[in-house]
Amino acid sequence: MNKITKKVKRNVFHRVAFLCLLVLFTNSFSFAQEESDSNNVSLEASASAEDVATVDGEDLVMKGEKLFKANCAACHSIGDNKVVGPGLKGISDRREREWLGKWIINSADLIASGDADANAIFEEYNKVPMPPQPVSEDDIDAILAYIKTPPVKQDVVADVSTEEVVVEEDSSVSLIVFGSVALILLVLLVILNKSRVSIARLAAEKEGVSFDGPVSLMEAFRFTLRNNKGLVAAIVIVLFFTSLVKLMDGAFTIGVHTGYKPEQPIKFSHKIHAGDDKIDCNYCHSSARHSKTSGIPSLNVCMNCHKYIDGSHGKTFSYNGEEYSMEEEIKKIYKALDYDTETQTYGDNPTPVKWIKVHNLPDHVFFSHQQHVTVGNQKCQTCHGPVEEMDVVEQSSPLTMKWCIECHGETGVATKGNGYYDEMHSRMTEEYKDKWLGDDKLTVEEIGGWECAKCHY
Ligand code: HEC
Ligand code: HEC
Ligand code: HEC
Ligand code: HEC
Ligand code: HEC
Ligand code: HEC
Repeated sequence: MNKITKKVKRNVFHRVAFLCLLVLFTNSFSFAQEESDSNNVSLEASASAEDVATVDGEDLVMKGEKLFKANCAACHSIGDNKVVGPGLKGISDRREREWLGKWIINSADLIASGDADANAIFEEYNKVPMPPQPVSEDDIDAILAYIKTPPVKQDVVADVSTEEVVVEEDSSVSLIVFGSVALILLVLLVILNKSRVSIARLAAEKEGVSFDGPVSLMEAFRFTLRNNKGLVAAIVIVLFFTSLVKLMDGAFTIGVHTGYKPEQPIKFSHKIHAGDDKIDCNYCHSSARHSKTSGIPSLNVCMNCHKYIDGSHGKTFSYNGEEYSMEEEIKKIYKALDYDTETQTYGDNPTPVKWIKVHNLPDHVFFSHQQHVTVGNQKCQTCHGPVEEMDVVEQSSPLTMKWCIECHGETGVATKGNGYYDEMHSRMTEEYKDKWLGDDKLTVEEIGGWECAKCHY
């Protein structure tokens, strides 16, 4: 073996070793970044004090509204749709006033008395009993007046309080995989280096010279840096540009979790509640309209219905492709609230349900539900997909910056009938009117929806 081939061999080894180390280094860099991304998730569930009904004025309809929401809304809508019981639209036309009084105050008595209508509806609703209602005949007049002519504003009131929301740590597995690969690579490098040194020593002995090359891995590394300045410079430049591209790309794609669909501790099905039973999204996510977050309802909201619906009929339902017992899943609500179904009392040891958060924006992004749902007039489904058809909620939009920006570029602002924008138009100079209204559409972009500071703290 002559000196030249030896030198070439050594250099090839050095290059491979060097590249391995670089790969290791850059990967651990970007990995650390992803780690911190996934830790950046905010853990809030919301509470909103604004959600308390403001019923002042002694108006009959207002009184009726308050009574209806407190006592009936959990099971009835004032429209046509069935919730737990039938929709009550036009109830005063269907039934006698006297019958209604008897039914509402104690439906079981009326059924037992052999009343044909009472028995028919009881059968129709699979013998789900309507509990006796703590209301007077006067209250019933008010409720019926409200059902007949509800006030324009129809917010459903729900007592939303803080419930714990946790974020699933799904990166620990990849950390282990990455760590093991790194370790194996390192061990491989050490072994390779050892055999390189012994081969070089042998070769040197054969030629009767002493070996003076680098011995340890560190020495070999430094040696390579010193003797391959061109290569090092090239790699540094490539590295610089790839990380730049990666960073820019990151703004658009990092942390895309479309399709993320964790199983929840209680197998709560939106398909059953929001789909089959047509419960309004706002009944449970009432803060979406008034605040930044949409929040997860507290278990007290569930108890409006599940005090009476315990699933003891033994039916099962499907969740993520598996069958579960309704009774077992509903029992978890009672357990979490430390509720005793026999005595109907709450104990002192409630344990919050740890719902796993599905949608997560990084901390440096500002997003407000109120802005989009109430001001922008956007439907929940535009961003969340057909939730009412999902048993397990899944993330259906990418939640990337590109996604936000693209919608802002296309979507017109809901200016019609919005006093704020009417006022703005009348104050606009002609120049701005042309720029904004030239294409007959005022997009979110044009009111500043592409400005960095609007979305970044
Ligand atoms: C826990 C659930 C629940 C609550 C709370 C509840 N209801 Fe009902 N209601 C039912 C069910 C279920 C039926 C269907 C009949 C049956 O299965 O007993 C029903 C039936 C009715 C009917 C008969 C409808 C028809 O078409 O004849 C009226 C009227 C009614 N409810 C009024 C009220 C009013 C008013 C309140 C509040 C003061 C109220 N309900 C509270 C569950 C409930
Ligand atoms: C009966 C109460 C109830 C109703 C009605 C309801 N939800 Fe939910 N929602 C929940 C609960 C509880 C959770 C948390 C458990 C889960 O993710 O399944 C949740 C979770 C969600 C999530 C995921 C939140 C996250 O962790 O990122 C979205 C999105 C959502 N709901 C949207 C909707 C939409 C849209 C509707 C109406 C079509 C709706 N919900 C109706 C109770 C409800
Ligand atoms: C407006 C009434 C209502 C509210 C509020 C409500 N549920 Fe239900 N829930 C129902 C009805 C109706 C069923 C179906 C029962 C049946 O078919 O026997 C049901 C079924 C269930 C089931 C079994 C099927 C499934 O969806 O997994 C679970 C678990 C459940 N509810 C949990 C909850 C939780 C948790 C909350 C609060 C976040 C809640 N419910 C709030 C009416 C309600
Ligand atoms: C313009 C898009 C958009 C619309 C419209 C929208 N959401 Fe969201 N929603 C999001 C984003 C983005 C997040 C993640 C927020 C975060 O992590 O800070 C989210 C999170 C949630 C959550 C998790 C809890 C929270 O607040 O972080 C729930 C529940 C939810 N949305 C329900 C709803 C409901 C119900 C509606 C309709 C009333 C709705 N959303 C309308 C984009 C939207
Ligand atoms: C489905 C379309 C859509 C998506 C997706 C969307 N937005 Fe919007 N956004 C709107 C609309 C419409 C408005 C205008 C509301 C108004 O009239 O002020 C708006 C307004 C805003 C505003 C206020 C802008 C201003 O100039 O006052 C912010 C901030 C914002 N969005 C952030 C976000 C973020 C962050 C995301 C992504 C996580 C996002 N949006 C995704 C439709 C969308
Ligand atoms: C409409 C809202 C919106 C606007 C306007 C916006 N961003 Fe973003 N930006 C986001 C969202 C949402 C993310 C998070 C993306 C993710 O997690 O995938 C993000 C992420 C980023 C990141 C990446 C950070 C990371 O997590 O890796 C950078 C950098 C960034 N934005 C810079 C900018 C700059 C510079 C501007 C102004 C030219 C801007 N953004 C305007 C919504 C916006």
